[in-house]
Amino acid sequence: MNAQVSDRESLRFLAHAYYFSSALFALVRLGLADALADGRKSASELAAAAATDPDRTARLLRLLAAVGICVEDEAQRFSLTASGQYLRSDHAQSMSKEILMFCGGEAFAAWNNTVDAVKSGTPAFDLTFGKPLFAYLAEHPASAERFHKSWEEITTQAAREAAERYDFSATTLTDVGGGYGIFLGTLMQQRKGLRGVLFDLPFSVAGAAANFARLGVSERVSVITGDATEHVPAMEMCLMKSVIHVCDDERARRILTNCAAALPAVGKVLVCERVLPEANRFHWSRLVDMTMAIMTGGRERTLGEYEALFVRSGLRLSGCVELPCGFSLVEGTKA
Ligand SMILES: C[S@@+](CC[C@H](N)C(=O)[O-])C[C@H]1O[C@@H](n2cnc3c(N)ncnc32)[C@H](O)[C@@H]1O
Repeated sequence: MNAQVSDRESLRFLAHAYYFSSALFALVRLGLADALADGRKSASELAAAAATDPDRTARLLRLLAAVGICVEDEAQRFSLTASGQYLRSDHAQSMSKEILMFCGGEAFAAWNNTVDAVKSGTPAFDLTFGKPLFAYLAEHPASAERFHKSWEEITTQAAREAAERYDFSATTLTDVGGGYGIFLGTLMQQRKGLRGVLFDLPFSVAGAAANFARLGVSERVSVITGDATEHVPAMEMCLMKSVIHVCDDERARRILTNCAAALPAVGKVLVCERVLPEANRFHWSRLVDMTMAIMTGGRERTLGEYEALFVRSGLRLSGCVELPCGFSLVEGTKA
């Protein structure tokens, strides 16, 4: 928004921002973004391709044209802008799965219970669906697949940047809560000598074998399932990306304590999360912090809070590397 917009109008824009989330979700979910992949199309052509209503399709696209996602030419044909290209499912840095996960479906329904969640302190997801997120996903394979596909998109970039900026000197890395294995697989693709162990809840590893095969690392990796709050396998070095932030402090302490106990004396834990800035400035971690309150009862943490959590788990904070994508690698060494 430009600098001339009044405070009241900026507030109005924020208040109605869910229109844009919903419109982006519809554009992706209905296949309209993919239908625009090969160039300009009229609303009627798009409606025919996606089996949608032509008038509503045009109005959806015009809403998104107003915020720079697509443009309409003089002949009323629409095309995606540079930003809009990321909505295509075939884009190398697609955000289509992230949008399908966070801008509609269960996540959107859970956010609708924010009032009760803030009042009660119970995650909005539990209030909405009657059980915690991971128990729900274990029973809903299509939702679990959508969840993990969105994480593949988010995690790929973090893994590439971590491979460039952190010295993974271990010979075997265990990715606890590694999901479909995209961090581990991407890292192992770049570090040819590295072996990997993927550990996660049983339903969460369903898509891992396909990813390891696609990344050409299947020979060097093994998969173990279990609940990290109860037990983790003995390991040389532990990675956890976007796992500690889904946990409240007590669950996080249990997982970190189990990992610390499973490491040798010189072992390290690498927690990859978005670290909350100490100052009150904007950082994406602020949004994710509230998303965790809504979805799982977890939280984002400052570096000081990670340090305190590590101490309670038998670890000491030994380093922190911020990656360009906004994630940090918070390193813990056995105390
Ligand atoms: C947000 S996802 C992150 C997946 C992956 N590490 C990534 O960053 O792409 C959180 C992961 O933590 C796993 N997880 C949650 N609680 C767990 C537990 N108690 N034991 C093992 N894994 C757990 C989930 O199954 C899920 O795969």
